[in-house]
Amino acid sequence: MNSNIFNWRGFGSAFLLLAACVSAHAATTSTTSTKPDVKAGRERLSLDRGWLFHLGDVVHPPIVGHEESYSNAKAGNAPGAAGTEFDDSDWRRLDLPHDWAVEGPFDPKANISQGYRPRGIGWYRRYLKVDPADRGRHFELQFDAIATHATVWVNGNVVNRNWSGYNASNIDITPYLNYGDSLNTISIRADAEAMEGWWYEGAGMYRHAWLVKRAPLHVATDGVYAVPRAGKGKQWTLPVEVTVNNSGKKVSDVTVEVTLFDPAGKQVGRQTAKASVGVLKDAVVKLPFSINDPALWSIEKTNLYRVTTRVIQDGKAQDEVSLHTGFRTIRFDAQQGFFLNGQHVKLQGVCIHQDHAGVGVAIPDSVWEYRLRRLKELGVNAIRFSHNAPAAEVLDMVDRMGFVVMDENRNFNPSPDYMKQLEWMVKRDRHHPGIILWSVFNEEPVQGSEVGYEMVRRMAAVVKSLDDTRPVTAAMNGGFFSDLNVSHAVDVVGANYQVPDYDRYHKAFPDKPFTSSEDTSAFMTRGEFKTVKEKGIIASYDDLADAAQWGNTHRDAWEAIATRPYVAGGFVWTGFDYRGEPTPNEWPAVSSVFGIMDLNGFPKNAYYIHQVQWIKDRPLIHIAPHWNWSGSEGKEIRVMVMANVEKVQLLLNGKALGEQQVDPFRMNFFNVAYAPGKLEAVGYRGGREVARTSVETTGAAVALELVPDRAQLAGDGRDAMPITVRALDAQGRAVPLADANVTFAVTGGGRSIGHGNGDPTSHEDEKGATRRLFNGLAQLIVQTNWDSNQPVEVVATAPGLHAAKIAIPVKAVAPEPFVASADAPTTFVRSWRVAPVSDQRPDPNQKLAGFDMNTWGWGSPPLWADAGAKYHLYRSSFTPRKNLANGNGLIRFGGIRGKAEVWVDGALVGKKDTYAPAPLDLSLPAGTGKREINVIVEAEPGQGSGIEGHVTIEPRVK
Ligand code: GAL
Repeated sequence: MNSNIFNWRGFGSAFLLLAACVSAHAATTSTTSTKPDVKAGRERLSLDRGWLFHLGDVVHPPIVGHEESYSNAKAGNAPGAAGTEFDDSDWRRLDLPHDWAVEGPFDPKANISQGYRPRGIGWYRRYLKVDPADRGRHFELQFDAIATHATVWVNGNVVNRNWSGYNASNIDITPYLNYGDSLNTISIRADAEAMEGWWYEGAGMYRHAWLVKRAPLHVATDGVYAVPRAGKGKQWTLPVEVTVNNSGKKVSDVTVEVTLFDPAGKQVGRQTAKASVGVLKDAVVKLPFSINDPALWSIEKTNLYRVTTRVIQDGKAQDEVSLHTGFRTIRFDAQQGFFLNGQHVKLQGVCIHQDHAGVGVAIPDSVWEYRLRRLKELGVNAIRFSHNAPAAEVLDMVDRMGFVVMDENRNFNPSPDYMKQLEWMVKRDRHHPGIILWSVFNEEPVQGSEVGYEMVRRMAAVVKSLDDTRPVTAAMNGGFFSDLNVSHAVDVVGANYQVPDYDRYHKAFPDKPFTSSEDTSAFMTRGEFKTVKEKGIIASYDDLADAAQWGNTHRDAWEAIATRPYVAGGFVWTGFDYRGEPTPNEWPAVSSVFGIMDLNGFPKNAYYIHQVQWIKDRPLIHIAPHWNWSGSEGKEIRVMVMANVEKVQLLLNGKALGEQQVDPFRMNFFNVAYAPGKLEAVGYRGGREVARTSVETTGAAVALELVPDRAQLAGDGRDAMPITVRALDAQGRAVPLADANVTFAVTGGGRSIGHGNGDPTSHEDEKGATRRLFNGLAQLIVQTNWDSNQPVEVVATAPGLHAAKIAIPVKAVAPEPFVASADAPTTFVRSWRVAPVSDQRPDPNQKLAGFDMNTWGWGSPPLWADAGAKYHLYRSSFTPRKNLANGNGLIRFGGIRGKAEVWVDGALVGKKDTYAPAPLDLSLPAGTGKREINVIVEAEPGQGSGIEGHVTIEPRVK
């Protein structure tokens, strides 16, 4: 229909023809110019700041009528909150990362799996101003993840749909951009009713957002593949593959230069290759490096090499990007397990989800660093990011801190949409030396069938096509023994639980490498030592009764793995508690209790059990429980001593209670008649004391204490840190059962972004001003303000206790480059109809049939008409923002050449009485909803005329 609407000549309207010629001329100029007319270089700008948010769906009324339907079907005309003219003036302003689910209350009617947190639908909008000097560059929006189904519009064009809450959306927005004053609108609808998991998944834009500006000749996103391969002796190769994209207007010859820097920053290699890149095409350039005796990456020594890629045209660098890679070998052996650089490493792993106390899934990078540091201190050397790819920053930390990783795909589905998710993960992550396994699924019911086998075969093939240096695995919880099953399609078999089948499988398939991909699933409430079923409290002795039926205790699971050389290692379910899956409890329990640590990263007793099993290089000793058992004097208390030494001795108030040989798997137990005082454990090796620890009966709490995680914060608006909140007795000892209700005040250069206490049944507001201590502890997370160097001052108060006060120094740092927020008090009237020209003054309010798409033309300012006819009539409509309804708005014309009359809703609102070009400001009559505007321009005889600048609707006073 209406195929002739772009045939401007059809209107007999010379000015439109001229406008078309002018732009064609501009295009020709840029095509033939030899001068580089587009800025070179790359800018990666944070787009975390300045979003507007609306909780709930914004449903646009059904489209009715021919004109509206026709317009709705056109590029750039998405209606409602997806579109450009939507009034978001009363939306909440916030910065990313943002998880709206954690802000809301718990609801017993909401999904238990999601931690009884209603999720729902939310909208985000943001405005973007683009410098005209950036014209011609390639613009990409990058959303690192949005929970869960996200639709993105730019300037009213739908530009992306992503149906996974764990995948990035990288969107080329170059074609849709407005430059200069005319703002760009980004609209996002995040549907978090959609679920991909059976755990808390959060809601909204919970990872970072970026705007990446590149020269037209640039390295494609995730376009550098650099994974070293070992050769003979100490000889290695590094076959680098670079994908160069050309968004420019001419076929271009480029030189791709890749430079390799060693961990000390010294250049150790440089290669160049030439390529010709077609218009709007990719070219893949291969540069093979040969490296002798590189410094190897390992868990202990995280030697990282930097690979810097430059795209050079006519001697000038157009783009540059760097990544890190590492030289290391990995091998899964069917008899002896896992080898890193030829050294045997038993995988002491944990599975983790991605939520933390107070912040939900919107975890600041520095809090991730804290979480990984806690895992390192625990002796973890392997992480399974279950059951989805983590944030890119987390994998960078993993490489730097020294963990090996099972990187897991979320959705098990080899159909094209979902295969793209898998491809994205492998392409983004394959340069990380930490990654040792690609996992294509977790526990799929079809795993024991031909269907499962065929699906995995396809997904494994896609993985191999992108990276053949790591084995593919799948986390199976059955189906191992059927004739055709998933284990036949993977390189390493992963078993979730199934301990009784370990040996059976190994016997049946002695040549198949095997690892636990998930184990344990034992329950434990931090700081509790008596199971009270009705209250959902689970004791910390790691008893069989407190493990899931399908799982094992912490001690049994590790013993099964540690004592079988063919099992490469284990991945405890889980490193940290997470929201949802409060197994074995239900409401009022809202978070899981599987963690070795609680939701804040505070250690449970399982922490000490694993720490003494996993850390060998220094003596460690721990005692449980605490020693505050007032009322139980003389009664036997079960004492658990956890140590990695040879012998332990227990003393109560200096009196020896006995000695035991250390049992490295079962730990050591003593029954001790309770008397207040000091219970001490001493560890011996070779008859010599090598470790000592104690628990003491404390007095009542008298004061609060705040213990910051680090000495200083960076004033970049991103750096955050957990602060431990506890209560002390008169002698300054932490009181283990303190439950004070603490109120926080955070002032100075930062603010609170949430808090928690690890109580799996707590329904406290995670963002409010108060939090109760749970078994002696709570955690407050503070984050600096943007551009601040003021200390962050925290005051904690509680009834009857001395307040605690700290000031955390803030170091002024240059903020990460970011995109300035752009306010949009302005509505641009962009889309105009243009009546046929006439020498008689036209009726400004003449009717145009709703189905007539052709008699009048179409255009947006500048609307220029060559000398000729006398009168030109332009018509448009707009919906002013709510705050302009009462007559305090202006209609602003950037410039009109010719005399003019302006009519709104059939009434004359103003006139321009001179021919000379000039701006025109008119009062917008009071009124709501959609308004029709008609402009008659009368040309000076023999002169051109038109609407020259933007037409905007603005507040009278900004
Ligand atoms: C496993 C599953 C995990 C978690 C765990 C709880 O079967 O893979 O995601 O649900 O059980 O024990």
